[in-house]
Amino acid sequence: MRVLVTGGAGYIGSITAHELVRQGHEIIVFDNMSYGHKKAIPKNAGFVKADLLDKQAINKALKEEKIGAVIHFAGFTSVGESVKEPLKYFTNNVLGSLNLIESMRELGVDKIIFSSSAAVYGDPKRVPIREDSELKPENPYGETKRVFEKFLEWYKIAHGIKHVSLRYFNAAGADLENDIGEDHDPETHLIPLILKAALGQRDKIDIFGTDYDTPDGTCVRDYVHVKDLAAAHILALEHLNEGGPSSYYNLGSSRGYSVKEVIDMCRKVTGRQIKAVESPRRAGDPPKLVASSDKVMKELGFKFKHSDLKNIIETAWSWRSKHPNGYGD
Ligand code: UFG
Repeated sequence: MRVLVTGGAGYIGSITAHELVRQGHEIIVFDNMSYGHKKAIPKNAGFVKADLLDKQAINKALKEEKIGAVIHFAGFTSVGESVKEPLKYFTNNVLGSLNLIESMRELGVDKIIFSSSAAVYGDPKRVPIREDSELKPENPYGETKRVFEKFLEWYKIAHGIKHVSLRYFNAAGADLENDIGEDHDPETHLIPLILKAALGQRDKIDIFGTDYDTPDGTCVRDYVHVKDLAAAHILALEHLNEGGPSSYYNLGSSRGYSVKEVIDMCRKVTGRQIKAVESPRRAGDPPKLVASSDKVMKELGFKFKHSDLKNIIETAWSWRSKHPNGYGD
């Protein structure tokens, strides 16, 4: 079965695209290249350069490429930016996704795996977070993910399109076999920014908020290796192909690390002095996000293989040291 991978030139999308190809799937990458990297697309994948706001282009790709399932990564992903520019996030993440699901309905494509986010939970009452926790996003980015998850439910009821929503916690690390790492422009994520400081490309890392109700006052996040995320997508695809029901799964490692702990681990892995400066809170940041991953392990048979924080940072550092300027495109 041929799989359309939207956002397949991006960080998580391209690593999953490589894993799909490795496992023998035929894939078509659909990406507008606003943040994607040509070099990250697998060589033997089809490629359509188009935007999800262009519904005709989606229809054409689904039809001409005889697509049987969609893995939908394409979307803007910066929490801080979404607070400043909500329209950008609703336009791309919601309108674009609606075009996609409607094209799927028109062309009879009935399976979708959606890149959702832990941001749908907002500031959860209980941690570790289970999938049945209340959804109360605290920033526009998380809201766009929650809204599209809801649409997927209604499309399932109305049109029988089945979905698996994967709620990622903090994706990090690199795929060294395929030479793919994290390279956003602008970069806003913690680990790549710390590593840029380690390389001397920045003079410091700002710690956004030191007065949270957490053990050391800095935000706690659950870092999950991007290769583990990729593997979970394949399991989700197999689940739908085997007739499994629509569902939601957290993808985190179930272990939380504070911003200060992550900086310390980066110092240890890189052996470099990294200057950290205590700074004000960043708007939209919940204090603590840690996943309960019981559901995905039990129902999809998912196992973590790469998500130890040291391994995450070692792989990210290895890729970044080899490509100090990222993809350079
Ligand atoms: N942080 C800093 N300094 C920086 C950058 C980040 O202190 O220069 C802090 C943030 O305030 C936050 C933590 O590091 O507490 C992680 O921030 P990231 O920007 O790396 O990631 P987020 O937690 O904001 O968001 C990521 C994904 C989202 C996902 C979320 C779920 O980008 O898609 O994890 O945990 F929803």
